[in-house]
Amino acid sequence: MDRFNVGVKVVQNAGNLLRQCRLEEAEICQKTSHQDLVTLWDRRIEQLLRNEILTAFPRDAIVGEEYPSEAHRAESVTWYIDPIDGTTNFINQHQNYAISVGCWDGNKPLFGLVLDVERKALYWARHGGGAWQGQTPIHTSGRRELSDLLLTTPGLQYTFLEPHPYQERMIQLSRKVRGVRCLGSVALELCEVAAGRADLFVTMRSSPWDHNAARIILEEAGGAIFTVEGKPLPLNQKSTVLGLSSADLRDYILTV
Ligand code: IPD
Ligand code: CA
Ligand code: CA
Repeated sequence: MDRFNVGVKVVQNAGNLLRQCRLEEAEICQKTSHQDLVTLWDRRIEQLLRNEILTAFPRDAIVGEEYPSEAHRAESVTWYIDPIDGTTNFINQHQNYAISVGCWDGNKPLFGLVLDVERKALYWARHGGGAWQGQTPIHTSGRRELSDLLLTTPGLQYTFLEPHPYQERMIQLSRKVRGVRCLGSVALELCEVAAGRADLFVTMRSSPWDHNAARIILEEAGGAIFTVEGKPLPLNQKSTVLGLSSADLRDYILTV
């Protein structure tokens, strides 16, 4: 099996486990605060993904949220994995959370997989092969007027309420767009833009495992991704993120 097929298989297996699990209160822990949680299932799923990937491809590197990175080995293929993106949703709603797996060969994207676990919707893209939801091709929206656009952001608090260098610009943007939506999962929200159900995505904080799978899907769907300053999004660092349904919107959004 090639990496893509191994990836699909392990993500689907992990999704089956998460749909069946019953989360106990004692399985929830705080990481840095009451707004930064991890569960036994985040760790269990990341272990499962790591084991299955490394069994098939022992020389690959893994960058995941819950465990230290596997050192880069001779090959430069790296898997960016978030076992549960939207842990708070997993805990409180048991929906709107994703398993996110992005595979890169150095700086070259290979494929991205984002499984909306409870909806059993797999968003995927192979570099150069378009973007898909299951068997259906997906595309970003053709909307271009600011007043027609839907903006999605995973955290109202960090995007609009907490002070940061772009706060006033984000508030202005929220006034000019048609509406703001907040799902609570970076990976799923980037896929919302990829599928044309939202037009813009913004977050002030995102990690490589949050966005390195969905960014491939968004670009293959016709969209574009940058930092909020409009610079190239780094692959291996935490960053702000601006996801767009089209690269044409970049200058328009940066001058709001
Ligand atoms: C978080 C979610 C959340 C976003 C955070 C992420 P996690 O990931 O995507 O919506 O606001 O920045 O860290 O912790 O649920 O994997
Ligand atoms: Ca995440
Ligand atoms: Ca996570």
